[in-house]
Amino acid sequence: MAHDFISNFGLRGFLLLVLLALLIPKRTAAQQPALNLMPMPASVQAGTGSLRVDSSFSVVLTGHTEPRLERGVERFLEQLARQTAFPLNLKPAQYAHATLVIHTDHASKEIQEVGEDESYVLEVTTAGATLTAPTPLGTLYGLETFLQLVDVTSDGFAAPALTIQDHPRFPWRGLMIDSARHFIPLEVIRRNLNGMEAAKMNVFHWHLTDNQGFRVESKKFPKLQELGSDGLYYTQEEIRDLIAYARDRGIRVVPEFEMPGHSTAFFVGYPELASAPGPYEIDRRWGVMDPAMDPTNERTYKFLDEFIGEMAKLFADQFFHIGGDEVNGKQWDGNQKIQEYMRAHGLKNNQALQAYFSKRLQAIVAKHGKSMIGWDEILDPSLPKDVTIQSWRGPESLAAAARQGYRGILSNGYYLDLGWSAARHYAADPLSGDAANLSPEEKQRILGGESTMWTEYVSAENIDSRIWPRNAAIAERLWSPAEVRDPASMYARLDFLSPRLEWLGLTHRTCYWQMLHRIAGPAKREEFAALRTLADVVEPVKDYTREETAAVEATSLSPLNRVVDAVPLESDAGRRFGELVDKFIGTSCLDPDAGGRLRSRFTVWRDNPAKLQPLAQRSFLVNEVSVRSQDLSALAGIGLAALEAIAKRQPATDSWKSQQLAALEQMKKGKVQLLLIPVSAVQKLVEAAASGGTCASAKP
Ligand code: ACM
Repeated sequence: MAHDFISNFGLRGFLLLVLLALLIPKRTAAQQPALNLMPMPASVQAGTGSLRVDSSFSVVLTGHTEPRLERGVERFLEQLARQTAFPLNLKPAQYAHATLVIHTDHASKEIQEVGEDESYVLEVTTAGATLTAPTPLGTLYGLETFLQLVDVTSDGFAAPALTIQDHPRFPWRGLMIDSARHFIPLEVIRRNLNGMEAAKMNVFHWHLTDNQGFRVESKKFPKLQELGSDGLYYTQEEIRDLIAYARDRGIRVVPEFEMPGHSTAFFVGYPELASAPGPYEIDRRWGVMDPAMDPTNERTYKFLDEFIGEMAKLFADQFFHIGGDEVNGKQWDGNQKIQEYMRAHGLKNNQALQAYFSKRLQAIVAKHGKSMIGWDEILDPSLPKDVTIQSWRGPESLAAAARQGYRGILSNGYYLDLGWSAARHYAADPLSGDAANLSPEEKQRILGGESTMWTEYVSAENIDSRIWPRNAAIAERLWSPAEVRDPASMYARLDFLSPRLEWLGLTHRTCYWQMLHRIAGPAKREEFAALRTLADVVEPVKDYTREETAAVEATSLSPLNRVVDAVPLESDAGRRFGELVDKFIGTSCLDPDAGGRLRSRFTVWRDNPAKLQPLAQRSFLVNEVSVRSQDLSALAGIGLAALEAIAKRQPATDSWKSQQLAALEQMKKGKVQLLLIPVSAVQKLVEAAASGGTCASAKP
């Protein structure tokens, strides 16, 4: 029989198939996680069988209990009901009948502190589950883990039997949201706190003031919000509610008030604080501006003493962020009085002047019972060691701070607004680079990290998609053991977590679709599909390129309604296409399934401009991206030609290759602030075609 088959198929074909079978990469256990947990727990021991989850599921709280835990269990049951659509009884169960028995040992601190015990142990058997934790913080995290374990199976919903012992690697796992550049409504903040809880993040850093807005109600200095916010600010009552909401989820709220720079919004109401005469207006532009507080005027400190006193009472957390970054010093240079003060006090330069300001500020912050935190620029050996440094400029400054005895957190590498891939953020580690060489004592000073969501190009509408799902990869970096670092496993679990995050109210997936519908206007099904085909494989330009390549300067009043605002910062379809090309090349371009899928993708892309054309004529927002639609079509043409050459197994000519690569290089550039993601994968196919499909020079 085998012989017949070989003779029919041809020996050459048969050998190719054998080779193919040998070459198709096998997925390793690490790439194919049995458990879709994110962040990955510190330790997981698999058991046998699974625990059925049905409408009789119940929970009991034992040991220490408090209203926060009861609310936590209620949220847990609501979420479980959403995951299974079972009508669940939200009332606490009797001990003997409960499916999940929780034991919490003792209360956590009334005002949550850095480094409290957040550990838990979760044991699931076929008969039931137990969750034990020293404090409610661990209990809340254990409930999140349990929710991630429950999934549909062939005979109902179930959680696998196992034992998890879990605790975080770092005590500070934060997300910063900038509510100043674009005002972010409380309901949006709340749903992001829901996401943080699911990802086991425990610090919400709230960037509340900047040149573009002052977002907090001050009763002592009401002109701050009255003149500095366009009416878009949070009342003190709303802030108290938000802090309580965060505490319920094991999340601390650290407020940031930017000074002495990034502070124009202070000066609209109180121009006397500035280093140059007013009047001042809310700044609508992005970037570093000249206005800065006057560090040589005692009135500045009197104001800050009263203001910080008021805010220190409003925000319960131990930490108080004073910003401190990006002071360009121009107002200081231009002020005669300030220059004289510097000479008289031996302050040699603006850096020394800022250090003087930081020292005075630290004393005020400490007087009101708080620990000061600020961006790298405040680092100065004259400051007391109580100060914490948030590193945005690089891991070197974090290590330098730790060496000098300061505590620090890493944000460099975690800037969500730069549009990096989840994998790139995931690779950044607070204890890598210079920090890897610190002594154990110095390493202890590195408390963790924070992702940052700056909102130049982020609105209430699209903020979720700028934060999630990538933020969950950063959350895992900060929670899970350092050895958990395989990007393939991370992406597999992220794909699982991402849709589930929408159950918590986040809109990172649905907002894409909704925004595209606005962009398209009334559209036929196939027209909308054509827009989606293009939008799925583009990403906004990275880093600060959007600022640098804007046709018209963007401001806080520019509408964020373009394709660049709607598409996710990381294209799933683009990533998967890259994986498919790698798979194809990994089989020396022999895998017929991968080859067929590539061909059909290219065909759709090649034919897409004609389908998009009617929409481009009706919508200026679609018309803007027609140029990228043409590029995608041209790219597909190159891809198809490469596949054809590969199928012939005859190396394409050098001149063909260099022509195609040059064309692709042009397509790689951002246009209408969009990157075409499949370009680099098609470059690999061209290389493969030039080697006759043996892929000698094309590396997956
Ligand atoms: C910053 O990004 N300037 C903190």
